[in-house]
Amino acid sequence: MKEGNYQMMKLYERLVNKGEKISVVGLGYVGMPIAVAFAKKVDVIGFDLSKQKIEQYKSGIDPTNEVGDQVIRNTTVDFTSEPSKLRDAKFHVVAVPTPVNADKTPDLTPIEGVSRTIGRNLTEGSIVVYESTVYPGVTEDVCIPILESESGLKCGIDFKVGYSPERINPGDKVHRLENITKIVSGVDQESLAEIAKVYELIIDVGVHRASNIKVAEAAKVVENSQRDINIAFMNELAMVFDRMGVDTQEVVEAMNTKWNALKFTPGLVGGHCIGVDPYYFLYEAEKLGYHSQIILSGRKINDGMGAFIADAIIKELILANKVVKQAKVAILGITFKENCPDTRNSKVEDIIQRLNHYEIEPIVVDPYAESKDAKSEYGVDLVPFDTINDADCLVFAVAHDIFKNITTERLDSMFGQHPNKEKIIVDVKSILDKEKIKKAGYSYWSL
Ligand SMILES: NC(=O)c1ccc[n+]([C@@H]2O[C@H](COP(=O)([O-])OP(=O)(O)OC[C@H]3O[C@@H](n4cnc5c(N)ncnc54)[C@H](O)[C@@H]3O)[C@@H](O)[C@H]2O)c1
Repeated sequence: MKEGNYQMMKLYERLVNKGEKISVVGLGYVGMPIAVAFAKKVDVIGFDLSKQKIEQYKSGIDPTNEVGDQVIRNTTVDFTSEPSKLRDAKFHVVAVPTPVNADKTPDLTPIEGVSRTIGRNLTEGSIVVYESTVYPGVTEDVCIPILESESGLKCGIDFKVGYSPERINPGDKVHRLENITKIVSGVDQESLAEIAKVYELIIDVGVHRASNIKVAEAAKVVENSQRDINIAFMNELAMVFDRMGVDTQEVVEAMNTKWNALKFTPGLVGGHCIGVDPYYFLYEAEKLGYHSQIILSGRKINDGMGAFIADAIIKELILANKVVKQAKVAILGITFKENCPDTRNSKVEDIIQRLNHYEIEPIVVDPYAESKDAKSEYGVDLVPFDTINDADCLVFAVAHDIFKNITTERLDSMFGQHPNKEKIIVDVKSILDKEKIKKAGYSYWSL
């Protein structure tokens, strides 16, 4: 048996005994909670390219809101942006972004870059586990060759590789890293066993051992594609019911009384998972000569919802005899999902852009989002929630708790005190009490 192999068989024990370290590379929404969880059991180096992010963590700030500042302050994770420190770790967990390019093809730049960084600092007997969402084949056909060429080591002999997709749901306080079954896979049985044991340290509900890496990669992209398609179906229904004058929410409520109803609702599909992962799958399918019908249709529908909602806003303004170009529209929420500060790939931007076509410059509030993110990503200057006092139309775009619990008095104050003024509410996620709102004299539209 080669020395590298021998060392690896002992890796789990050596990690637990703190003779070796784990590195978590890419400390965002996914990587940071993993690093913190592992640090409760083993020594962890937390590496990120962004010096600014590392400084935040070092000063006890959790910009993702996933674990909170207190936890960051108390964690033993050794935060660093110095690549050579990766040499001190034998088990590497990779959680860098996997976005799409403007043409919706996979952008593998970060995962290739991180593979080069780890490769240059890889030592014999190490294991590298990728967690970033990818299409089947990326780990073995893209990442392993880079690790090998940068390190001069041979995968399967000198080091091993695995893939374990991340399934956390940012902002979700119920489904947490520890209580979501984790899929694990490895290049061979030996690495699978080792990787499974290491993850079992932090996953209370246990792991699912996939038979190979491609199965694990595929499972992740298709579980999100499945959600995308189901939401697209609901969005299609919402667009048809809008024409029929039938209330979608009431239909969904009635339909959901059946035991096998799927409980999806219409809405914007943004973010960097559900709105992105299907494109990874489609890309690989296309390369193999298969032109997807269902997944692509779902994507088209979901990507068009921002424009559909904006058009509904315009219709409501016209019906209320407002001068469209002068209408004061306030959008509540810009993050891609509720109760989460993440603004990446927010489809609220599509509503804003479409309104801009009609020369409406909506004001936007979001107490959860960082002003600098809204500005740098969308050129939007967020305004404080309590400064809205003269709106013609309020668009509840994101189902933040703070918006759900809004009182009619608060709503009234946001429209100002003009007698006979038509007050329009567009409730994208149907978070408000429709009957109460209508009774209070507002025009109400929901998806
Ligand atoms: N956020 C989610 O809800 C979620 C859920 C499941 C899976 N995922 C997947 O997990 C992966 C990470 O997502 P995320 O939301 O944590 O992203 P993120 O942008 O929040 O974090 C990624 C981090 O990686 C760092 N980074 C980028 N390139 C790097 C490099 N070459 N070396 C070191 N660090 C680098 C960035 O600075 C950033 O801090 C993606 O593939 C995503 O699709 C995300």
